[in-house]
Amino acid sequence: MLFRLRPSSASESARHKVAVTAALAQQKIEEGSVAAAPFEPEDGCVVEGEDVVVCGAPHACRLIAGSALRCADPVVDDWIEWSETIFAPAVAALVASFEGSPVRALPPSRPVVERDEFSFLLGAFTPPPNGVPAAAKAAISKTWPLMAALEGFLATDNSDPTLAHALLGVDAVYALPAWAPGSFPRVEALVARLPSVDLRPASLERGTDESPTKFVTRLFAAAIARAFPQLEWPDPAVMRCANDKFGDYQCNAPMSIFKALKGAAKSPRAVGEAIVASIPANQFVASTSVAPAGFVNTVLRSEILSAFAVSVARSGAVPAPPLSAFGGKRQVLVDFSSPNVAKEMHVGHLRSTIIGDTVCRVLEYCGHEVRRVNHLGDWGTQFGMLITHLETAYPDFTENPPNITDLTTFYKDAKKRFDADPEFKDKSRARVVTLQAGDPRSLEIWRLLCDLSRKEFDKVYERLDVALNEYGESYYNDMIPGTIEELERKGLVSDENGAACIHLPNHGFPLIVRKSDGGYGYDSTDAAAVRHRLIDLGCDWLVYITDVGQQEHFHMVFEMARAAGWTRDDVRLRHVGFGVVQGLDGKRFRTRSSETTRLVDLLDEAVVRMEASLVDRVKDGKCSLSDDKVKEAAAVVGYGAVKYFDLHQHPATNYKFSYDKMLSTSGNTAVYLLYSHARLASIIRKSGLDVPTLVVQDLVHHPKERQLAFELSLFVDVVEAVANDYLPNRLCDYLYRLSTKFTDFVTDCKVLGDPRQSERLVLCEATGVVMRQAFTLLGIKYLMQI
Ligand code: ARG
Repeated sequence: MLFRLRPSSASESARHKVAVTAALAQQKIEEGSVAAAPFEPEDGCVVEGEDVVVCGAPHACRLIAGSALRCADPVVDDWIEWSETIFAPAVAALVASFEGSPVRALPPSRPVVERDEFSFLLGAFTPPPNGVPAAAKAAISKTWPLMAALEGFLATDNSDPTLAHALLGVDAVYALPAWAPGSFPRVEALVARLPSVDLRPASLERGTDESPTKFVTRLFAAAIARAFPQLEWPDPAVMRCANDKFGDYQCNAPMSIFKALKGAAKSPRAVGEAIVASIPANQFVASTSVAPAGFVNTVLRSEILSAFAVSVARSGAVPAPPLSAFGGKRQVLVDFSSPNVAKEMHVGHLRSTIIGDTVCRVLEYCGHEVRRVNHLGDWGTQFGMLITHLETAYPDFTENPPNITDLTTFYKDAKKRFDADPEFKDKSRARVVTLQAGDPRSLEIWRLLCDLSRKEFDKVYERLDVALNEYGESYYNDMIPGTIEELERKGLVSDENGAACIHLPNHGFPLIVRKSDGGYGYDSTDAAAVRHRLIDLGCDWLVYITDVGQQEHFHMVFEMARAAGWTRDDVRLRHVGFGVVQGLDGKRFRTRSSETTRLVDLLDEAVVRMEASLVDRVKDGKCSLSDDKVKEAAAVVGYGAVKYFDLHQHPATNYKFSYDKMLSTSGNTAVYLLYSHARLASIIRKSGLDVPTLVVQDLVHHPKERQLAFELSLFVDVVEAVANDYLPNRLCDYLYRLSTKFTDFVTDCKVLGDPRQSERLVLCEATGVVMRQAFTLLGIKYLMQI
């Protein structure tokens, strides 16, 4: 049987009384000398399995009333109240009234609440002795009876402390310091025998790099653990307030805790109040309020928000999440983009490139070592066909290299011949073997093809401003045999009609690491690559970014890696699968010239359209850019728009590619955001001041100032979340929300020429810093003027 305490009262002496009583009760129950008394649900008590939890003074009293407390007066609860409102203030008054009296130091007590009736006590105790200074009589008259009566009671009763003794004893603890030592020897002895309970709420301090959200979460976790230790509640469910009016954060746990208590608590609100009473002392929370549904609204001290914004504006940088949030600095490898040589680089690869780049940027920003790997499809059986086609269709290709700008057509022609011409087919197959055997001429042609493709891919990377290191499939070729050998040694390979297969539980098909003709395919390369990355490179975090269709393939590769013992518990292996890009008709996306899909054209089209819209704005006087600046701005905004349109969708969903939507100046688009950033920059420019160096007071007075500053403080949480779940759309949503808050702020708060101009400018500056950091993480360039 476990006897635990849940203090329900915020007042210290009442909680102390319950705590000591509970501790003693637990001792006694453990010894078997007392059985837990029945409780009444309205006491707010909790019985969970074997645990008896004392939740409040009424229950403590009820526990002891029937047997242990030898007192005729039935209203034991009154004792608690009496000692709260009469006794304790009297002790305090006693201390305050006399210098040099027998009275010694006593901690300051709560304000006096007058209450006349303490029938139980008045009847039980004797009047104050003579010899006490007259002026003290009134006060003394209230503590003396307890002490004298208790001393007398203990003289006749020398039994082990009962729960009643505990109740009396705690009051005595408060009264004793007021009397000279030795005045009440028996009471002193009793007090010495009571269990000591430390009631001070442990104070919590925010870690230097702990985000406000994390700190508040930790604060509530501690409060819940104190208030409801028996529940071992896992998640305080702290989030930003649904409505800014009520505060910054809300703790949503009370409702579910109330349900888990199965009727033992009075209401969700009572649960919320119990949590509030248990919040550790801290420098962070300004106030809390409990909503009728129980959740606890929390307002941070404005100085905290203000200081954060000031430091961002001053330093021009936003803190990144600490490495400790990831278990230290990680060796990450992100496998993304990865188009295939001589095949079209389609919008799927565009998604992989855009999402992958943001994932890399976020992880780099967090301080990890990040390898950006382009797993180019530059090996495999199609090369037999391509080489043969090149040789026969362009026999003088070495002297006169063909200008194959459109490799896709080249690929299709080769494929046509391959399917139609058996002789060509045989030649092609033989050519794969010579290529793989290292025949110099085959390799030369292969290289030529790769170079041609690479040029085309690089145009896309250049427009997108994405850095990648090419480690194509061919890079792993030599590692494959050793990898298969190792897998065989580890008993993971089974032979199926000559093919080397790896069966993994819960998958309907195996990974084929060597085909029956001895050839190596996609699975073979990925087996060697995953081993190389984990073992040779020592990476402890691998991320692969492809369409969702390949999800199972990668899960199988990861399971194989685990089965082969190439991972540790802390190694993260993740596949990020994304959905299909569709045309407006809902079908898989194709660019206008249906035959060939040139991603470069697709990207450039956005710029062309953007330029047209900027030119219109210039004509309408809405924009003051000069002609050469219009071109530059169109490129920044156009490419940014394509990226943002992709990134702001949840990766797993399909989306319809729409220039009109992505280039819209309103709503959650890059165009809107870049405009709103430029507007911000122009306010700062117009001030003519060196804003980061302005001397400012508190930045957050007006509610809109506060909401903006609070939003700024959430950036670090968003970055951490994206680093952990690879959902760049979170960052986009954040940026959009921030920008909305900024608009609200400048709408309601005049910046230039206002008495609070300096403060407001600093807030603008901090917003600018955060927005630019967010753009950078999304791989979007920004402009200071549009
Ligand atoms: N080349 C593949 C494709 O176009 C993507 C490669 C992904 N990475 C890998 N290690 N398999 O679908």
